[in-house]
Amino acid sequence: MNYFKDFVENTDHRKLCKWIHYFEVYERELSHLRDKDISFLEIGVYKGGSIPMWKGFFKKASNLIFIDIEESCSALQENGTNVLIGDQSDETFLSKVIQDYGPFDVVIDDGSHLCSHQIISFEKLWPALTDNGIYIVEDTHSSYWPGFGGGYRNESSFIEYSKRLVDKMHSWWTDQDDVFPYDPFGQKINGVRFYDSMVVLTKRADRERPIEIEVANGKIAASRNAFELRGRKSIFK
Ligand SMILES: C[S@@+](CC[C@H](N)C(=O)[O-])C[C@H]1O[C@@H](n2cnc3c(N)ncnc32)[C@H](O)[C@@H]1O
Repeated sequence: MNYFKDFVENTDHRKLCKWIHYFEVYERELSHLRDKDISFLEIGVYKGGSIPMWKGFFKKASNLIFIDIEESCSALQENGTNVLIGDQSDETFLSKVIQDYGPFDVVIDDGSHLCSHQIISFEKLWPALTDNGIYIVEDTHSSYWPGFGGGYRNESSFIEYSKRLVDKMHSWWTDQDDVFPYDPFGQKINGVRFYDSMVVLTKRADRERPIEIEVANGKIAASRNAFELRGRKSIFK
């Protein structure tokens, strides 16, 4: 069953505002969490259409939190959900959200789409993401719009920021400590997936240096020698 197709065809008056290809990404990235009680946070409520969508997708006992800067959104709160009013670029507000409702298994940023806000929210909320948690930033095409703090290859855009996260994820492979030092932040980044207008980041708190295996005749030889290549000292000792 395609949950999202079914949901869209049976919506009520509460308007939902998403790009249609997001549903395929949700299916791919979130389906394994459907029958679990999870803790979920979405930034951006608008007319409230995503509230019943996520409520129906996750298990009943899930903790579903929604944030919007518009006071009027608080009227859209319903049983089993919390709608909090605040600014996604306000770190004090986000700290309170984390303190009261965190940590979160899934965070979706569908708020202002300003690159600076996407970065502030990510830096504040990523540490409050659980092990194996998923962080989704939507409408990242705003990274190509100067009016949103973006523009092609603009260092301040969220897409360029995410590319640097790809580097951080690989930083334990570094062979050039002077220009590319090991960054422990990257150790918890398990994957950075780019879709059109979406960046999906997955977390794994216990990620260890990869193990290489050489296998023949059913015999497995495992090593981490690649980290020691070229006489380089391991950064993990
Ligand atoms: C694209 S809409 C959200 C759509 C909704 N998630 C849905 O699926 O239908 C963006 C929302 O973000 C809110 N927003 C804009 N700037 C914000 C900010 N700085 N902090 C929190 N919410 C903000 C807007 O008020 C608006 O309701």
